[in-house]
Amino acid sequence: MQVEKILTLGIETSCDETAASVIKGDREILSNVISTQIPVHQKFGGVVPEIASRKHILNIMPVIDESLRIANVELSEINQIAVTYGPGLVGALLVGVSAAKTLSFALNIPLIAVNHLEGHIFANFLSHKELTPPFLSLIVSGGHSALIKMNDYNNFEMLGQTRDDAAGEAFDKIARVMGLKYPGGPEIDKLAKNGNPDAIEFPIAKVDEFDFSLSGLKSAVLNYLNTAKMKNDSINNADVAASFQKAVINALVEKTIHAAKKFKFEKIVLAGGVAANSALESTLRNKCEKYGLKFYYPTKILCTDNAAMIACRGYYQSLEKNFADDRLNAVPGLGLLT
Ligand code: KG4
Ligand code: ZN
Repeated sequence: MQVEKILTLGIETSCDETAASVIKGDREILSNVISTQIPVHQKFGGVVPEIASRKHILNIMPVIDESLRIANVELSEINQIAVTYGPGLVGALLVGVSAAKTLSFALNIPLIAVNHLEGHIFANFLSHKELTPPFLSLIVSGGHSALIKMNDYNNFEMLGQTRDDAAGEAFDKIARVMGLKYPGGPEIDKLAKNGNPDAIEFPIAKVDEFDFSLSGLKSAVLNYLNTAKMKNDSINNADVAASFQKAVINALVEKTIHAAKKFKFEKIVLAGGVAANSALESTLRNKCEKYGLKFYYPTKILCTDNAAMIACRGYYQSLEKNFADDRLNAVPGLGLLT
């Protein structure tokens, strides 16, 4: 079989999106179906793991069927199945892993175990057909923030990561205290557009060369809000959102540019759910232009959790015969690059 004709079915159920996708070869998306549970979890202010698992069970087969229908492909034509096995919520992951194992056994086709965070990086190959390694990637998601040296498709090195809160986590926690709806990142992003980023100076912790620390910043914002409430001072939510966002972005962008210069990378690749943040995207883009670096980030739909990125990562693993077998289990605490 010619590699460019290989059909990979991707499955993603790590959190609150049930997703399935068919890709052809390395980068051609034939379908990318995402059934989001956000409205279900919104009233609880965050994802309720037990509800997420139950919804995945209800959604997984219809979502896979829909992805095959849109791709105009029969299940029997699929050559391999790539599935997220971590990190994420254990019950949620298990739904995707069980579906993938069952289909791989029934169809007698290879199974590929994909690290969700690596998938986020690979979303960029789908958005930018011309992109090739080496590059430096900044992953900013709900659970992780890290700087990765991507030397080749299957050769990564971690330069640094968050010591405490991930970027998305900080956005979500602050939004929650401000009474904004879940998920908080996009809400802060919207609110910040009407605020003054220089209104309040929030401190950012200094840590090792390429690591991040965002919990001190988060506490400073929460203290600011609590103190203002206690004193009955009026709070300008837009200014708080813009000032907080500026502090996070400066920390992330500064380290990314420093790493790119130090290791002489020519390309910077943004990845993960927080990559959808408009101010992060524009700040990093401007800095890249200033230093003559090429900047890449995924289209909005590929920034969020999706299965096309999982299928793409899986495809590149299959080139190295990096397959799983029927003993595959969910690994909720899976780290980066494992
Ligand atoms: O990568 P992702 O889907 O989750 C994990 O894989 O962990 O990212 C979800 C995170 C959430 O914390 C969400 O609030 C944040 O991405 N997010 C944003 C924006 N859109 C999503 N954060 C800031 N600005 C946005 N526009
Ligand atoms: Zn994600």
